[in-house]
Amino acid sequence: MTLRVIAIDGPAASGKSSTGALVAERLGWAHLDSGALYRAMTLAALDNLGDEGGGKGEGWNPQRIVALAQELPITLALVGREFVPTVAGVDVEEAVRSERVTTRVSAVAALPEVRAWVNAEQQRVVRQHPAGVVVDGRDIGTVVFPDAPLKVFLTATPEERARRRLTQRGQAPDAERVRRESQALAARDDADRERPVAPLKPAADAVLLDTTHVSLEEQVARVVALARARFRG
Ligand code: DC
Repeated sequence: MTLRVIAIDGPAASGKSSTGALVAERLGWAHLDSGALYRAMTLAALDNLGDEGGGKGEGWNPQRIVALAQELPITLALVGREFVPTVAGVDVEEAVRSERVTTRVSAVAALPEVRAWVNAEQQRVVRQHPAGVVVDGRDIGTVVFPDAPLKVFLTATPEERARRRLTQRGQAPDAERVRRESQALAARDDADRERPVAPLKPAADAVLLDTTHVSLEEQVARVVALARARFRG
């Protein structure tokens, strides 16, 4: 049976989650933002393991983070079409977007034990979904679902991604803010690209979509057209 998964990968703020959610809506599928699960692991570590990591989280013991995920537990709950992360039964969709989580999440996502747990959780919920799931992240097409029939890799310049992120936050995208935000995004991209385990990179068979000059509506339409061709019947 064909695996009903669309993998959308790409760097931070490339529009993966907005695209994934809208593609899922058009197809009648569900959407899973895998970054939110890494963020939930980071939030749980911050709240329960304190600053053991010497301020940056690098010193956190990976086994303790995974044990926490099992004990609390951290899970994915399907709310409408969206898989949202929960910690001890509480929806943490909003809480995981905080700055304190954002600055630590790359270090947590670099831990192989954490990645193994997150991957198993994603594979579990996808297996149980009857229609299909659009999954977005950094390693979905390369590691988590290497057999996904459709893989898309979204890119955009750091400046364009910074502008989108600022606008999303309701901040004016003036030159100084764009400069600072694009530097922060580039630093996070480097950390994700250069880590030894499951680094950010397009799968060999991914469709590359540079969205710097493409509207969200247009990029959604392109992915939906590709999906309709790949998942006929
Ligand atoms: O997409 P995001 O900003 O919410 O992702 C948060 C972090 O998690 C980011 O540093 C990259 C990491 N991540 C990952 O390593 N693999 C994924 N499949 C998704 C996210």
